[in-house]
Amino acid sequence: MLDMDKEEEVLVLAIESSCDETAASVVRNGREVLSNVIYSQIALHTVYGGVVPEIASRKHIEKINQVIEQALLEAGKKLEEMTAIAVTYGPGLVGALLVGVSAAKAISFASGIPLIGVHHIEGHISANYIENKELEPPFVCLVASGGHSHLVLVKDYGEYEIIGRTRDDAAGEAFDKVARAIGLGYPGGPKIDMVSKEGDPEAVHFPRAKVAGAEYDFSFSGLKSAVLNYLNSCEMKGEKVNAADVAASFQKAVIDVLVEHSIHGVRQYGYDKFAIAGGVASNSALRAALERECQKNGIRFYYPSPKLCTDNAAMIGAAGYFEYKKGVRHGFDLNAVPNLRLGEGIR
Ligand code: KG4
Ligand code: ZN
Repeated sequence: MLDMDKEEEVLVLAIESSCDETAASVVRNGREVLSNVIYSQIALHTVYGGVVPEIASRKHIEKINQVIEQALLEAGKKLEEMTAIAVTYGPGLVGALLVGVSAAKAISFASGIPLIGVHHIEGHISANYIENKELEPPFVCLVASGGHSHLVLVKDYGEYEIIGRTRDDAAGEAFDKVARAIGLGYPGGPKIDMVSKEGDPEAVHFPRAKVAGAEYDFSFSGLKSAVLNYLNSCEMKGEKVNAADVAASFQKAVIDVLVEHSIHGVRQYGYDKFAIAGGVASNSALRAALERECQKNGIRFYYPSPKLCTDNAAMIGAAGYFEYKKGVRHGFDLNAVPNLRLGEGIR
């Protein structure tokens, strides 16, 4: 039977390759994930203590077609059934981005299916639409990943205003650097998250940085230096370092700042909904602290499950859907833009 009120089915094949995950996904109508395939290169980069861009690009080339085919297979769909192809075109590592962008352009050219370039951060934010079916803008979103720490007003689908950003290191970057210093290895975030459960967050007092004249901006490099100084001074004095206490105290310092800025921003701008996104958003202590503070302040709190916080293509499919609905289409001149700013798309 024909249902005249049924919304047109929009199937987006999404591709993400901006850093060290080769990912593809099929998303229906922006909120329903039919497949979410992620080939993680983390094990490859661990031996170097961080992502090696050249190795990442080469591995993306090796894996991209396989991952795309797997995404279609798991979704039970054929390429011809796709309404659009969405791909991350920035920000990220240029060589890594180029692999996804080239694959998407080639598939779009060969099939005639429209191409949509997606901003990686818009993808992270849009991960919230997948499991929170009722979530609609406006809301405030804290995006904390390995490369970014942004406090963003999501005014409408695809309409953003950044009210706070980091002046130096991103939150995830600080997690990774501190983890390396206390011997936990890469990637540091999940390891610090785990180890901190055994430590005392009040054991060492680390600074909570404020940026003069920019109340929502972040700065994490001073905190990172404070941890390094603490470790050095322990070594000079011959004192044994309790890694769990240092991890927990560092984590608490990051969380205090993220929570304070976020709640303050939501209240000052008069919003009543708040969401988190990016790899650091999967941090268990951060989620617990935000849950508590949002409840205290009458703010509705949204978060994606951890698999949708770290890099994936389902979030790009969600963002791509809303861009598609707005009429955004890109030409074959779409290029990788490593330092692409939010809201500065090539339209
Ligand atoms: O969003 P993402 O996967 O990639 C970027 O776009 O950067 O974020 C990766 C970052 C890494 O710095 C990683 O250490 C951090 O997210 N991260 C975490 C946790 N899981 C990942 N940080 C704190 N706690 C976690 N549980
Ligand atoms: Zn990311």
